Amino acid sequence: MRPVRAGDAPARARLAGFTGQPDETCELFDPGRTLLVGVGPSELSRSRALEQAGACAVSKLLDLRRVALDLRGWAPDEATAFVTGAVLRAWRFDRLKTRREDGAPWLTRIDVIADDPGELRPAWDRAGCVLEGVAFARGLVAEPANHLTPARFIARLDWLTAAGVELGVLDGRALRRAGLGGLLAVGGGSAHPPALAVLRWRGTIDADPVVFVGKGITFDTGGICIKPAAGMEVMGDDMAGAAACAGAMLALALRRSPAPVTAVLALAENAVGGSSYRPSDVLRMADGSTVEVVDTDAEGRLALADALAWSCQQLRPAALVDLATLTGSIITALGHQMAGLFDNDPTFAAQVAAAGSGVGEAAWRMPIGKSHRDDLKSDIADLRQCVMGRQPDACQAAAFLREFVGTTPWAHLDIAGMETRDEATDRHAAGPSGYGVRLLDRLVAQRFEDPHR
Ligand code: BES
Ligand code: MN
Ligand code: ZN
Repeated sequence: MRPVRAGDAPARARLAGFTGQPDETCELFDPGRTLLVGVGPSELSRSRALEQAGACAVSKLLDLRRVALDLRGWAPDEATAFVTGAVLRAWRFDRLKTRREDGAPWLTRIDVIADDPGELRPAWDRAGCVLEGVAFARGLVAEPANHLTPARFIARLDWLTAAGVELGVLDGRALRRAGLGGLLAVGGGSAHPPALAVLRWRGTIDADPVVFVGKGITFDTGGICIKPAAGMEVMGDDMAGAAACAGAMLALALRRSPAPVTAVLALAENAVGGSSYRPSDVLRMADGSTVEVVDTDAEGRLALADALAWSCQQLRPAALVDLATLTGSIITALGHQMAGLFDNDPTFAAQVAAAGSGVGEAAWRMPIGKSHRDDLKSDIADLRQCVMGRQPDACQAAAFLREFVGTTPWAHLDIAGMETRDEATDRHAAGPSGYGVRLLDRLVAQRFEDPHR
């Protein structure tokens, strides 16, 4: 064996077989503890590669109470990317634990050592605002449904009003007066009544707002068409679309975005009860059209359609983006690596996809074919909610939503399968992902912050 000097980390790492590939880590001990993280070469942009390296590094350090990252000599955007990855990976939800069984510490603080902290500030401040938004969305998704009812969801939005976002709420009588028969039907079986939350960030640009619409089903039992018990427990995450919209609003407000943006959250619990809606019911939606209910478990499209129609009437959106854990079908099609992206405007869809790929939140364009729309013909109403059986349900659901947006440029992100991760990896914490917050923030930055748009 070759003698290696104690301080000669690169040589020792090579001896240990470390080659510096992405996601590769190597720990050296004595003296102290040195952690090496590979960053490349990779297909990713430099900033994405550094972000992943930051995540990998921290994944090895989670049992420390406090970590300092020595980033002297790093460019501000490189340091920011690395720290972004580290912070996202270190996230966890421990608010409902009153003690930690094994007495081991938790990572609660990450310090950064920089040559000139002032130089790092602008890039880090902006990234920090977006990370606040991601953490906020993740926290909402992590909360179980007995804690996060529609009303409690709205109470949580105090964080946003404190940051300068205006909050309006339609519930009970206001929902009936505005004719949101889809949202009211979906929430009708629950002791926790439905609501539409409207979050407005005025920005400084005098233009019509971009509008985010989120599916906020605080728990989806399936309703009268009840889901099987096995796996139902994850349906507390069926509000991840609304959480992402709220998180993005927080990010935009904290970083004082000049763009006018409004988020509309369709909040309801799809429960079983004496006043639950049923298959064969015909509902009158916010745009006055009628819908035949086929399966009460296809509740998301009813709640969203009302929110989309209401937004088009009330807000004159420059563009609409909705996020929804809408269909199991999109998981069958795309798995857990990318969301499904549907649209009525290829240019806008391309901008949404570009925003997502820039921040590591991939979205894959999916079709709405003529047959998908034809499948929704009803004998008794204007539209059928869905089709029973093995069908391209994600495409049909998108075709359904498209009926409610008129000619407004619209993109629909079916994020089912993206809202949580079952297991932690070096790159990702387990649990809620916050998918969509960074995509929406980037979309606004790239597409809606130019005063001459
Ligand atoms: N919230 C579910 C979709 C979902 C499934 C999200 C798995 C996350 C993980 C949605 O409301 C639903 O139940 N969809 C049904 C539609 C069917 C009844 C037409 C589905 O996908 O089975
Ligand atoms: Mn459902
Ligand atoms: Zn659902």
